[in-house]
Amino acid sequence: MIFGEELQAWYQEHKRDLPWRETHDAYKIWLSEIILQQTRVEQGMPYYYRFVERFNTVVDFANADEDDILHLWQGLGYYSRGRNMHKAARIVRDQYNGIFPVDYKTLLSLPGVGEYTAAAISSFANNEAQAVLDGNVFRVLARYYGIETPINSTEGKKVFAAIAKENLDHNHPAQYNQAIMDFGAIHCKPKQPLCEQCVFRLSCYAFTRGEVNQLPVKLKG
Ligand code: ADE
Repeated sequence: MIFGEELQAWYQEHKRDLPWRETHDAYKIWLSEIILQQTRVEQGMPYYYRFVERFNTVVDFANADEDDILHLWQGLGYYSRGRNMHKAARIVRDQYNGIFPVDYKTLLSLPGVGEYTAAAISSFANNEAQAVLDGNVFRVLARYYGIETPINSTEGKKVFAAIAKENLDHNHPAQYNQAIMDFGAIHCKPKQPLCEQCVFRLSCYAFTRGEVNQLPVKLKG
């Protein structure tokens, strides 16, 4: 089986039940992805519930007082995320009739939405063929393919983006992206990855050469 298929088979068996995976509402997916940008899933989950309960739509969010948003945000840090969200919500309200965009390019133009977040929202909400590239994905690809280019170098970004794009399952972008993120988060972990019971133990470059702990390479900065 090729990498992406094997990965999705793994995902079917091991995926985490996460509330933002039960919706195609781009607004809710956006909320979850911004919350999770610098926050772990366990910590972000209660915030996600609070936000969707308080603001059911992006227009409700746009109409809120910024103080209310920042108050709900308390504990997550990086308040610029909360402020950018308010700006983005007002743009969606005023320029897109309150309908949250789902295409990669438009998403990328919103404040606080970078390449990762635009790929996540457009694939999860609309199955657009955009490959996500976050810390989990860097680690999985670096180990599986034995890529030693530092993940935080300009060259590294190019190399990994190309491989991520090549691997993406164009028929199931949403599922493929969720699969590789979960695989990195709960199986191919930074420390003590579960190599002995891994579906890739015969084909993973790093495992077969005993280099799992050396990859990915990150430049000290
Ligand atoms: N981290 C960031 N986005 C995520 C998602 N959609 N599912 C799980 N973990 C994530």
